[in-house]
Order: sequence, then structure tokens, then C-alpha cells
Amino acid sequence: MTFTVAIDGPAAAGKGTISKAVAMHFGFAHLDTGLLYRAVGAKVLAGADRLIAAQQLDPKDLEGDQLRTPQVAQAASEVAVDPQVRAALTDFQRSFATRPGGAVLDGRDIGTVICPQADVKLFVTASPECRAMRRFKELSDKGMSLTYDSVLADVRKRDERDRSRDTAPLIPAPDAVLIDTTDMAIDDAVARAVAVISRVS
Ligand code: C5P
Repeated sequence: MTFTVAIDGPAAAGKGTISKAVAMHFGFAHLDTGLLYRAVGAKVLAGADRLIAAQQLDPKDLEGDQLRTPQVAQAASEVAVDPQVRAALTDFQRSFATRPGGAVLDGRDIGTVICPQADVKLFVTASPECRAMRRFKELSDKGMSLTYDSVLADVRKRDERDRSRDTAPLIPAPDAVLIDTTDMAIDDAVARAVAVISRVS
């Protein structure tokens, strides 16, 4: 049996937490597709060619806290504009989506481009200020020294680049269920996602 859940949305809207919780609840495999772009971005920061980096990506490149920095996030959104980089990462995501037992993929274009036939599509969003505050707390807790204002500026810049690119821009699929987590506790957002998926599965 294959069952695919596509969860898209902007940075720090809560899609990672929701995806992990949903995968755990239903026993599905989970792929954070942002990690693919972050891994390519990190290689480019280290001097690699972006297309070769995307074509030669290895699962072990997706591990490690060094992919979580704001610098790598910006580099990821820069390489993600390139249609050839996106194309090089497509097969891996599509085959993950159809693995037996069910899969949750989260990213920006899962419901629109990677898995337009997904069984359930969610679009998770929140205000930029709320997302920046969450990301600021998360990174500060990890010991990174940064300001809320710099995180907000990063979030806005990345949103703008992700929404305005020509290939696979960040937009909700027409049949996606919207979850706005601005004024929602994360447990309630997870419960909402589980309820939507349960109606279909
Ligand atoms: O989700 P995360 O913040 O880790 O993603 C990093 C960047 O990778 C995003 O800002 C976006 O530009 C890119 N990305 C993408 N398509 C995806 C997942 C991430 O373009 N499916």
C-alpha cells in the first residue's frame, strides 16, 4: 500500500514538527526535503558546483546540525531557484513518496510538483513574526548567537525568494488544506493534521 502525505509551507511554520508527529502517529516514513536543498547549499558554501553537488548527493550528507544554520538556509534557497538542481533531486523524493507503508514529505513544492497525486496535502503557515520568533528561540537554544531582527530579516528574504521563483514557487496546491499555526499550540496543529489525514486514510 502506498499513501503519501504532502506538507508544504514557509520556513518555521511548524511543518517539520507536524510532519514528524504525523509520521509517528501513522507509522509512515518521513522525508524533510529542505535537508536536500540545505545539503546542496552547504556543499556550495564549501566550494562545490551546485549541480554536481545535487547529482551526487548521498544520504549521509543529510545528517548533522551544521545544516541548520541561517547561512546554510540562505544558500539552500539560492540553489533551490535553479531548475536543474530541483530536477536532480526529484527522483529521490518521488521514490521516497511511494515507498510501501506510507510516507510524509515536507517542503515547498511537494503538493504542487513532486507529488501532485498525494493522498493528503496540507499547507502549514503562520505570520512572519511568529515564525521568526520560533526560529530565533530554536537557534538560541542551540547556542547560536543571533538577534530576533536578523532572524526575521532572514525569514522574509527566504519567503520572498521561495515565493517569487519561476520553478516550483512556494504556493498552496489548490486542493491543500490550510493550517495557520500563528495562534495555535503545536499540539493542536498536530491534532488538526492527524484529523485531516484520518478522514482520508
Ligand atoms: O525547509 P527548509 O527551511 O529546511 O528549506 C530550506 C530551503 O530549501 C527553503 O528556503 C527553500 O528555498 C528550499 N526548499 C525548496 N523546496 C523544498 C524544500 C526546501 O525549494 N521542497
